[in-house]
Amino acid sequence: MSQAEAIGQARQWLAAAQSIAVLTGAGVSAESGVPTFRDALTGHWANFRPEELASEAGFRAQPQRVWDWYASRRDELKAVQPNAGHHALAQFQQRHPGRLTLITQNVDGLHQKAGSPGVLALHGDIHATRWLDGFPGGCSRANQADEVCDVSAASPGRPPRCETCGNLLRPSVVWFGEMLPIAELEAAQQAADHCDVMLVVGTSGVVYPAAGLAHQAREAGARVLVLNPAASDLDEIAHLLLRATAATGLPALLDGL
Ligand code: OAD
Repeated sequence: MSQAEAIGQARQWLAAAQSIAVLTGAGVSAESGVPTFRDALTGHWANFRPEELASEAGFRAQPQRVWDWYASRRDELKAVQPNAGHHALAQFQQRHPGRLTLITQNVDGLHQKAGSPGVLALHGDIHATRWLDGFPGGCSRANQADEVCDVSAASPGRPPRCETCGNLLRPSVVWFGEMLPIAELEAAQQAADHCDVMLVVGTSGVVYPAAGLAHQAREAGARVLVLNPAASDLDEIAHLLLRATAATGLPALLDGL
């Protein structure tokens, strides 16, 4: 089947689907100028060791280095805009409220910036911060609920620190070895279980449990579409492989539906 035929077939399935789940990864933001993780040369993990920059142990070992890395990524994102792929998804969601569940591994906020409602951000939000230690809203040395420290009152520093208890702020992203946010993961699993089409865009499909959502959808009977200019670990479960970039492939799939 040619790529044009594959796009045509995919559009038919999408048009007929009552429920669509979309799982995106770093590739959906590549054409906005955001580096991916595993692309050779340009990916973050081609240049840095994930266990140093994306784990609690790495942060505790070198808090300033890790804080500064996330701060520089946040700064780079200030000038970044959603691309035609983010917009095609957001516009489809606006035309068909409730029909498409958008699940992302990205922490860059670009789907939200494009206007997508209800994005399930499985790996957190790079623009948000939280305490390193302690329960949500609390902190390491607070023993009672009324002893909570306010993250907005953290004193400046790299990383900022609570003046009362000494707790450090950390980026509110999911690091290796950490749990995904439970409400988002459950909602994503529901969508995977009930969708007619699972569209996977711009992910290498090597990080679980996110990649498991595509398997889950396939096992539950959904058609699986993989949109990626290169091979990925999820190709083997795809009913259709769409070899295009996100900014060209997503409008080709969704515009006019
Ligand atoms: P990866 O860097 O692993 O994969 C990026 C994918 O995007 C690759 O399959 C590329 O072929 C594809 N790609 C590149 N350019 C593209 C384009 N213009 N359009 C579409 N696809 C393109 O990124 P993820 O799969 O997102 O985890 O990585 C998963 C997780 O690993 C990330 O969320 C992050 C990382 O460690 C956390 O931060 C917890």
